[in-house]
Amino acid sequence: MTRYVEIDDVRVALAEPVELPTDPFVGRADELRMCRVAWGISGDGTSLVDGNVLPLNFRLEGPPGLGKNEIVYEIARRLDMPLYIVQGHEELTPEDLALLLTPDPEAMYGEVPPLTLRASPLATALYEGGLCFFDEINRVPDRALSPLASVLDVRRYVYSAMTGINVRPRDDEAKKRFRFCCALNPSLSNAGHVLPEYIEQRTLPVIEINHPPFEDVHEIVRTSLKPSPEFLAAFTDWYHQQERQDISVRQAVALMNYAMNYEQHVGGQKTNVFDHVAQFIVGRRS
Ligand SMILES: Nc1ncnc2c1ncn2[C@@H]1O[C@H](COP(=O)(O)OP(=O)(O)OP(=O)(O)O)[C@@H](O)[C@H]1O
Ligand SMILES: [Mg+2]
Repeated sequence: MTRYVEIDDVRVALAEPVELPTDPFVGRADELRMCRVAWGISGDGTSLVDGNVLPLNFRLEGPPGLGKNEIVYEIARRLDMPLYIVQGHEELTPEDLALLLTPDPEAMYGEVPPLTLRASPLATALYEGGLCFFDEINRVPDRALSPLASVLDVRRYVYSAMTGINVRPRDDEAKKRFRFCCALNPSLSNAGHVLPEYIEQRTLPVIEINHPPFEDVHEIVRTSLKPSPEFLAAFTDWYHQQERQDISVRQAVALMNYAMNYEQHVGGQKTNVFDHVAQFIVGRRS
Protein backbone atom coordinates (compact mmCIF):
# COMPACT_ATOMS: atom_id res chain seq x y z
CA MET A 1 0.00 0.00 0.00
CA THR A 2 1.34 3.40 -0.98
CA ARG A 3 1.89 5.70 1.99
CA TYR A 4 0.72 9.29 1.51
CA VAL A 5 1.73 12.29 3.61
CA GLU A 6 1.06 16.02 3.44
CA ILE A 7 4.10 18.20 2.85
CA ASP A 8 3.39 21.96 2.74
CA ASP A 9 -0.31 21.08 2.25
CA VAL A 10 0.49 18.98 -0.79
CA ARG A 11 -0.26 15.25 -0.93
CA VAL A 12 2.89 13.24 -1.57
CA ALA A 13 3.38 9.48 -1.98
CA LEU A 14 6.42 8.16 -0.13
CA ALA A 15 8.94 5.74 -1.62
CA GLU A 16 9.22 2.21 -0.26
CA PRO A 17 12.31 1.01 1.59
CA VAL A 18 14.22 -1.91 0.08
CA GLU A 19 13.58 -5.42 1.26
CA LEU A 20 16.86 -6.46 2.79
CA PRO A 21 18.25 -9.84 1.72
CA THR A 22 18.38 -12.39 4.52
CA ASP A 23 21.49 -14.29 3.39
CA PRO A 24 24.10 -14.42 6.15
CA PHE A 25 26.71 -11.67 6.08
CA VAL A 26 30.35 -12.71 6.25
CA GLY A 27 33.45 -10.88 7.60
CA ARG A 28 34.25 -7.20 6.89
CA ALA A 29 34.64 -6.36 10.59
CA ASP A 30 37.04 -3.45 9.93
CA GLU A 31 34.93 -1.93 7.17
CA LEU A 32 31.75 -2.24 9.24
CA ARG A 33 33.48 -0.55 12.17
CA MET A 34 34.60 2.38 10.01
CA CYS A 35 31.09 2.87 8.62
CA ARG A 36 29.51 2.65 12.06
CA VAL A 37 31.91 5.17 13.54
CA ALA A 38 31.07 7.58 10.70
CA TRP A 39 27.34 7.15 11.27
CA GLY A 40 27.49 7.29 15.07
CA ILE A 41 26.31 3.72 15.66
CA SER A 42 26.86 1.79 18.88
CA GLY A 43 29.68 -0.81 18.89
CA ASP A 44 27.27 -3.74 18.59
CA GLY A 45 25.68 -2.09 15.54
CA THR A 46 22.14 -2.05 16.91
CA SER A 47 21.47 1.61 17.74
CA LEU A 48 22.25 5.18 16.82
CA VAL A 49 24.25 7.06 19.42
CA ASP A 50 22.59 10.33 20.33
CA GLY A 51 25.36 12.80 19.55
CA ASN A 52 25.32 16.53 19.03
CA VAL A 53 27.47 16.50 15.94
CA LEU A 54 26.25 15.71 12.42
CA PRO A 55 26.97 12.13 11.35
CA LEU A 56 29.38 11.74 8.43
CA ASN A 57 28.21 10.60 5.00
CA PHE A 58 30.70 7.85 4.26
CA ARG A 59 31.64 6.87 0.71
CA LEU A 60 32.41 3.23 -0.20
CA GLU A 61 34.86 2.90 -3.05
CA GLY A 62 35.82 -0.31 -4.78
CA PRO A 63 35.56 -2.46 -7.90
CA PRO A 64 32.28 -4.22 -8.74
CA GLY A 65 31.05 -7.30 -6.93
CA LEU A 66 33.12 -7.07 -3.75
CA GLY A 67 30.29 -6.35 -1.33
CA LYS A 68 29.62 -2.60 -1.11
CA ASN A 69 25.84 -3.06 -1.13
CA GLU A 70 26.08 -5.98 1.27
CA ILE A 71 27.89 -3.83 3.82
CA VAL A 72 25.13 -1.22 3.73
CA TYR A 73 22.45 -3.95 3.98
CA GLU A 74 24.21 -5.42 7.00
CA ILE A 75 24.34 -2.05 8.75
CA ALA A 76 20.62 -1.47 8.06
CA ARG A 77 19.70 -5.00 9.20
CA ARG A 78 21.53 -4.63 12.51
CA LEU A 79 20.01 -1.20 13.07
CA ASP A 80 16.61 -2.49 12.03
CA MET A 81 15.97 0.75 10.14
CA PRO A 82 14.40 1.34 6.71
CA LEU A 83 16.94 1.65 3.89
CA TYR A 84 16.21 3.69 0.76
CA ILE A 85 18.40 3.31 -2.31
CA VAL A 86 18.99 5.82 -5.09
CA GLN A 87 20.49 4.06 -8.10
CA GLY A 88 22.80 6.47 -9.88
CA HIS A 89 22.84 6.57 -13.69
CA GLU A 90 23.73 8.93 -16.51
CA GLU A 91 20.15 10.17 -17.10
CA LEU A 92 19.35 11.07 -13.50
CA THR A 93 17.87 14.57 -13.08
CA PRO A 94 17.72 16.87 -10.02
CA GLU A 95 13.98 16.19 -9.74
CA ASP A 96 14.67 12.43 -9.47
CA LEU A 97 16.25 13.25 -6.09
CA ALA A 98 13.32 15.34 -4.88
CA LEU A 99 9.67 15.01 -6.04
CA LEU A 100 8.41 13.45 -9.26
CA LEU A 101 5.02 13.90 -10.89
CA THR A 102 3.71 10.52 -12.07
CA PRO A 103 0.36 9.24 -13.42
CA ASP A 104 -1.71 7.50 -10.76
CA PRO A 105 -1.47 3.75 -11.48
CA GLU A 106 -4.93 3.18 -9.96
CA ALA A 107 -6.68 5.36 -12.57
CA MET A 108 -9.58 3.65 -14.39
CA TYR A 109 -9.02 2.51 -17.96
CA GLY A 110 -9.96 5.28 -20.40
CA GLU A 111 -9.91 8.11 -17.85
CA VAL A 112 -7.21 10.75 -17.90
CA PRO A 113 -5.04 9.52 -15.06
CA PRO A 114 -4.73 11.94 -12.15
CA LEU A 115 -1.16 12.86 -11.31
CA THR A 116 0.56 11.91 -8.08
CA LEU A 117 3.59 13.59 -6.53
CA ARG A 118 6.10 10.95 -5.49
CA ALA A 119 8.95 11.50 -3.08
CA SER A 120 12.29 10.07 -4.19
CA PRO A 121 14.00 7.48 -1.98
CA LEU A 122 16.28 10.31 -0.78
CA ALA A 123 13.38 12.66 0.04
CA THR A 124 11.53 9.82 1.79
CA ALA A 125 14.55 8.86 3.92
CA LEU A 126 15.04 12.50 4.83
CA TYR A 127 11.36 13.06 5.63
CA GLU A 128 10.91 10.04 7.87
CA GLY A 129 14.44 9.73 9.24
CA GLY A 130 15.67 6.60 7.47
CA LEU A 131 18.92 5.46 5.90
CA CYS A 132 19.76 6.54 2.36
CA PHE A 133 22.30 4.79 0.13
CA PHE A 134 23.22 6.51 -3.15
CA ASP A 135 24.74 3.76 -5.31
CA GLU A 136 27.05 4.48 -8.25
CA ILE A 137 27.02 8.18 -7.45
CA ASN A 138 29.82 8.97 -9.91
CA ARG A 139 27.68 7.94 -12.90
CA VAL A 140 25.33 10.87 -12.26
CA PRO A 141 25.69 14.18 -14.19
CA ASP A 142 26.97 17.03 -12.03
CA ARG A 143 23.83 19.13 -12.26
CA ALA A 144 21.67 16.27 -10.94
CA LEU A 145 23.75 16.17 -7.77
CA SER A 146 23.10 19.81 -6.88
CA PRO A 147 20.06 19.10 -4.60
CA LEU A 148 22.32 16.94 -2.46
CA ALA A 149 24.37 19.85 -1.14
CA SER A 150 21.62 21.08 1.22
CA VAL A 151 20.78 17.51 2.29
CA LEU A 152 24.31 16.73 3.37
CA ASP A 153 24.98 19.73 5.59
CA VAL A 154 23.17 21.31 8.52
CA ARG A 155 20.35 22.58 6.30
CA ARG A 156 18.93 19.08 5.91
CA TYR A 157 16.39 19.68 3.17
CA VAL A 158 16.00 18.73 -0.47
CA TYR A 159 14.55 21.37 -2.79
CA SER A 160 12.02 20.34 -5.43
CA ALA A 161 12.27 22.93 -8.20
CA MET A 162 9.09 21.62 -9.88
CA THR A 163 6.86 22.28 -6.85
CA GLY A 164 8.90 24.86 -4.96
CA ILE A 165 8.72 22.62 -1.88
CA ASN A 166 11.60 21.97 0.48
CA VAL A 167 11.29 18.44 1.82
CA ARG A 168 12.61 18.34 5.40
CA PRO A 169 12.60 15.81 8.22
CA ARG A 170 9.04 15.65 9.59
CA ASP A 171 10.27 16.23 13.17
CA ASP A 172 13.42 16.46 15.29
CA GLU A 173 13.55 12.70 15.80
CA ALA A 174 13.56 12.09 12.05
CA LYS A 175 16.26 14.72 11.63
CA LYS A 176 18.46 12.95 14.18
CA ARG A 177 17.95 9.53 12.62
CA PHE A 178 18.62 10.40 8.97
CA ARG A 179 21.85 8.90 7.61
CA PHE A 180 23.40 9.07 4.13
CA CYS A 181 26.14 7.10 2.43
CA CYS A 182 27.16 6.44 -1.14
CA ALA A 183 29.23 4.08 -3.26
CA LEU A 184 31.23 4.32 -6.42
CA ASN A 185 33.55 2.30 -8.57
CA PRO A 186 36.79 4.31 -8.85
CA SER A 187 37.65 2.90 -12.28
CA LEU A 188 34.83 5.10 -13.64
CA SER A 189 36.46 8.07 -11.94
CA ASN A 190 39.72 7.21 -13.63
CA ALA A 191 37.81 7.44 -16.91
CA GLY A 192 36.94 11.06 -16.10
CA HIS A 193 33.66 10.69 -14.16
CA VAL A 194 34.77 12.53 -11.06
CA LEU A 195 32.51 13.82 -8.31
CA PRO A 196 32.12 17.60 -8.07
CA GLU A 197 34.33 18.96 -5.29
CA TYR A 198 31.40 20.03 -3.08
CA ILE A 199 29.97 16.47 -3.13
CA GLU A 200 33.41 14.93 -2.67
CA GLN A 201 33.87 16.99 0.50
CA ARG A 202 30.41 16.18 1.82
CA THR A 203 30.83 12.41 1.35
CA LEU A 204 33.64 11.55 3.75
CA PRO A 205 35.29 9.40 5.03
CA VAL A 206 36.25 7.29 2.02
CA ILE A 207 36.17 3.61 2.94
CA GLU A 208 37.88 1.35 0.43
CA ILE A 209 36.32 -2.03 -0.23
CA ASN A 210 38.98 -4.41 -1.51
CA HIS A 211 39.03 -8.17 -2.12
CA PRO A 212 38.13 -10.06 1.05
CA PRO A 213 40.41 -12.91 2.22
CA PHE A 214 39.79 -16.26 0.55
CA GLU A 215 38.34 -17.74 3.76
CA ASP A 216 35.53 -15.17 3.55
CA VAL A 217 34.88 -15.86 -0.14
CA HIS A 218 34.77 -19.56 0.72
CA GLU A 219 32.32 -18.92 3.55
CA ILE A 220 30.08 -16.72 1.36
CA VAL A 221 29.96 -19.39 -1.36
CA ARG A 222 29.27 -22.06 1.26
CA THR A 223 26.46 -20.23 3.04
CA SER A 224 24.76 -18.83 -0.04
CA LEU A 225 24.71 -22.00 -2.20
CA LYS A 226 25.31 -24.83 0.28
CA PRO A 227 27.48 -26.91 -2.07
CA SER A 228 28.75 -30.33 -1.00
CA PRO A 229 32.19 -30.46 0.74
CA GLU A 230 33.65 -32.03 -2.42
CA PHE A 231 32.45 -29.11 -4.50
CA LEU A 232 33.94 -26.63 -2.03
CA ALA A 233 37.24 -28.50 -2.09
CA ALA A 234 37.27 -28.48 -5.89
CA PHE A 235 36.54 -24.74 -5.88
CA THR A 236 39.37 -24.11 -3.39
CA ASP A 237 41.81 -26.14 -5.51
CA TRP A 238 40.79 -24.31 -8.67
CA TYR A 239 41.14 -20.91 -6.97
CA HIS A 240 44.66 -21.62 -5.68
CA GLN A 241 45.91 -23.48 -8.74
CA GLN A 242 44.74 -20.76 -11.10
CA GLU A 243 45.76 -17.98 -8.70
CA ARG A 244 42.45 -16.25 -9.32
CA GLN A 245 42.63 -13.69 -6.48
CA ASP A 246 41.32 -11.20 -9.04
CA ILE A 247 37.80 -12.65 -9.16
CA SER A 248 35.08 -10.80 -7.28
CA VAL A 249 32.82 -12.29 -4.65
CA ARG A 250 29.92 -12.06 -7.09
CA GLN A 251 31.90 -13.99 -9.72
CA ALA A 252 32.87 -16.63 -7.14
CA VAL A 253 29.20 -17.18 -6.25
CA ALA A 254 28.22 -17.31 -9.94
CA LEU A 255 31.03 -19.75 -10.67
CA MET A 256 29.97 -22.16 -7.95
CA ASN A 257 26.33 -21.81 -8.97
CA TYR A 258 27.10 -22.63 -12.61
CA ALA A 259 29.48 -25.46 -11.71
CA MET A 260 26.83 -27.11 -9.51
CA ASN A 261 24.18 -26.81 -12.23
CA TYR A 262 26.61 -27.99 -14.88
CA GLU A 263 27.49 -31.12 -12.94
CA GLN A 264 23.84 -31.87 -12.33
CA HIS A 265 22.80 -31.47 -15.98
CA VAL A 266 25.89 -32.50 -17.90
CA GLY A 267 28.01 -34.43 -15.40
CA GLY A 268 31.80 -34.65 -15.18
CA GLN A 269 34.53 -34.64 -12.53
CA LYS A 270 34.12 -31.74 -10.09
CA THR A 271 37.67 -30.50 -10.64
CA ASN A 272 37.28 -30.55 -14.40
CA VAL A 273 33.90 -28.87 -14.14
CA PHE A 274 35.51 -25.78 -12.56
CA ASP A 275 38.19 -25.62 -15.22
CA HIS A 276 35.54 -25.86 -17.89
CA VAL A 277 32.86 -23.47 -16.60
CA ALA A 278 35.29 -20.80 -15.32
CA GLN A 279 35.90 -19.55 -18.85
CA PHE A 280 32.21 -18.60 -19.13
CA ILE A 281 32.10 -16.81 -15.77
CA VAL A 282 35.45 -15.15 -15.20
CA GLY A 283 37.11 -15.51 -18.59
CA ARG A 284 40.68 -16.58 -19.01
CA ARG A 285 43.34 -14.94 -16.91
CA SER A 286 44.69 -11.88 -18.65
N1 LIG B 1 30.31 -9.77 3.18
C1 LIG B 1 29.49 -10.51 2.42
N2 LIG B 1 28.71 -11.46 2.97
C2 LIG B 1 27.88 -12.21 2.22
N3 LIG B 1 27.80 -12.12 0.88
C3 LIG B 1 28.55 -11.20 0.25
C4 LIG B 1 29.42 -10.34 0.99
N4 LIG B 1 30.07 -9.54 0.13
C5 LIG B 1 29.62 -9.86 -1.09
N5 LIG B 1 28.71 -10.86 -1.04
C6 LIG B 1 28.09 -11.51 -2.20
O1 LIG B 1 28.61 -10.91 -3.38
C7 LIG B 1 27.56 -10.34 -4.17
C8 LIG B 1 28.01 -8.98 -4.65
O2 LIG B 1 28.04 -8.06 -3.59
P1 LIG B 1 27.52 -6.54 -3.74
O3 LIG B 1 26.36 -6.49 -4.65
O4 LIG B 1 27.38 -5.98 -2.38
O5 LIG B 1 28.80 -5.92 -4.47
P2 LIG B 1 29.06 -4.41 -4.92
O6 LIG B 1 30.43 -4.06 -4.46
O7 LIG B 1 27.95 -3.55 -4.45
O8 LIG B 1 29.04 -4.56 -6.50
P3 LIG B 1 28.69 -3.46 -7.65
O9 LIG B 1 29.82 -2.46 -7.60
O10 LIG B 1 28.68 -4.25 -8.91
O11 LIG B 1 27.37 -2.87 -7.30
C9 LIG B 1 26.34 -10.30 -3.27
O12 LIG B 1 25.17 -10.54 -4.00
C10 LIG B 1 26.59 -11.42 -2.28
O13 LIG B 1 26.14 -12.64 -2.85
MG1 LIG C 1 26.60 -2.39 -5.64
